[in-house]
Amino acid sequence: MKQSTDPLLRMSSQGDDVAEQSSNTVAAPTSSSSTETDPTSGTTVTIGATVPTGFEHTAAEEVKEKIGVDAQISKDRGRIYFPITTDKLSQVHLLRSVDNLFVVVAEYDHYQFKESKEETLSELQELASKLPWTNALEVWRLNRTLKKKKGHRKVGNTTKAKSNTEASDVAAAAEVVQHELPEETSAADGDAKAERTPDSETCQQDLDENAPGAKLIKFRVTCNRAGDKHSFSSNEAARDFGGAVQEFFQWKADMTKFDIEVLLNIHNEEVVIGIALTEESLHRRNISHFGPTTLRSTLCYGMLRLCKPQASDIILDPMCGTGAIPLEGAIEFSESFYIAGDNNDMAVNRTVNNICHIQKRRADKGSPSGLPIDTVQWDLSNLPIRTSSVDIIITDMPFGKRMGSRKKNWDLYPSCLREMARVCRPDSGKAVLLTQDKKCFAKAISRMGGLWRKLHTVWVNVGGLHAGVYLLKRTTAVFGQTPEDVHESRGRGDSQMKERDDN
Ligand SMILES: C[S@@+](CC[C@H](N)C(=O)[O-])C[C@H]1O[C@@H](n2cnc3c(N)ncnc32)[C@H](O)[C@@H]1O
Repeated sequence: MKQSTDPLLRMSSQGDDVAEQSSNTVAAPTSSSSTETDPTSGTTVTIGATVPTGFEHTAAEEVKEKIGVDAQISKDRGRIYFPITTDKLSQVHLLRSVDNLFVVVAEYDHYQFKESKEETLSELQELASKLPWTNALEVWRLNRTLKKKKGHRKVGNTTKAKSNTEASDVAAAAEVVQHELPEETSAADGDAKAERTPDSETCQQDLDENAPGAKLIKFRVTCNRAGDKHSFSSNEAARDFGGAVQEFFQWKADMTKFDIEVLLNIHNEEVVIGIALTEESLHRRNISHFGPTTLRSTLCYGMLRLCKPQASDIILDPMCGTGAIPLEGAIEFSESFYIAGDNNDMAVNRTVNNICHIQKRRADKGSPSGLPIDTVQWDLSNLPIRTSSVDIIITDMPFGKRMGSRKKNWDLYPSCLREMARVCRPDSGKAVLLTQDKKCFAKAISRMGGLWRKLHTVWVNVGGLHAGVYLLKRTTAVFGQTPEDVHESRGRGDSQMKERDDN
């Protein structure tokens, strides 16, 4: 890495030196983000990405396909790691299956935490000054330049309200703490809490210049901790590690308007320290009109990849809600045609608005605005669609919690599966269905008279709920030839079954 005159980088180089000397005092890193430098393609660093839990392999597959490197899947579900040379950084932001990105400063597979809380916390404090920060900070800086080039006005970070689906990645046992450190109060602090103004943009530019009076860098530490054998809380780890980072770099702590977010991820004995490269999750890309159960675009992408859309496939989302799945499909797998339907007029309106919003965004950018998607209001139990005419059905069914009810699912699921089997092409047709009502789904499938065969299940976390994404294949069985295909009688039977189960 070239020598920098940036005070930030000079300081971090000191950190590198100490890290080498001190490798015996802390658990030895199994790998580091800063390994090699190729003069043509830049430094090799490790990128970490959070992905929808359950779709780690899909994300690794996408990384291989688009960046050409092998990703390592973390023990900590919902994360992958892969090496890149810095010239590939912009490509990383084009990945569709990743939520948040960070560059790894250091990772420890088997960090030996001390017995007592005090010793552990003091070791975490020492660690801050021993880490190889240089390359990660250089990537952070490059990332910021890329964003500016892309015309991002937002150069600092703000803490955003989480959408109703965003909690999905946080496992019940995990703690996530963003720690604000004690700081001196000044007039500038007051400004920082207000909306970013043109003035603050100018201040931000000062960061790029190595002027002695350059604006102080603001940071926060976010600790994600999972595991029951730790003697400390995430709050304590973030506070003590953050305090040491502050002292080492002389940065200023700011919880809401920060330039740098340092991540301290602790999962049992795995410790990864990183610097965030995304200000908000990349799943927030398509939807402007949210509904009560809008699915993250990254999860939609994972579901779409599962069914491998081919050119000219007709793909149906018969319970589309806000249209998150078919919209992601129309953008990313645009050689297929999507039909988005729902029985709720508000849902249909939201889908139409979401499609229009994307089309307008495209037109404003001067790109072709048309999308291969249409919207219909319908009842899935009675689709206005010819038998055996659809290639893929992909949908997120009501779980019966926030949407619909468990009781209604006992009638809804069998009638949906039956109607889907009618319109789906025998032999080649597929369905990818997401539900958390696993028992009801399993019973409904078992009574489909062999119209569907279950190929694969991906277990995912949706809004903190353990749900299944089922990949089904339409068998060669002809629809309408089994007693199970008779809608009315089965529907009643299933309701009675549910009542018996409840009793
Ligand atoms: C879990 S939500 C789908 C959310 C959607 N994936 C999104 O991202 O917004 C299920 C949807 O199924 C719709 N629905 C329920 N019963 C239906 C039926 N019989 N026919 C069509 N749609 C139905 C509901 O109106 C709801 O919008």
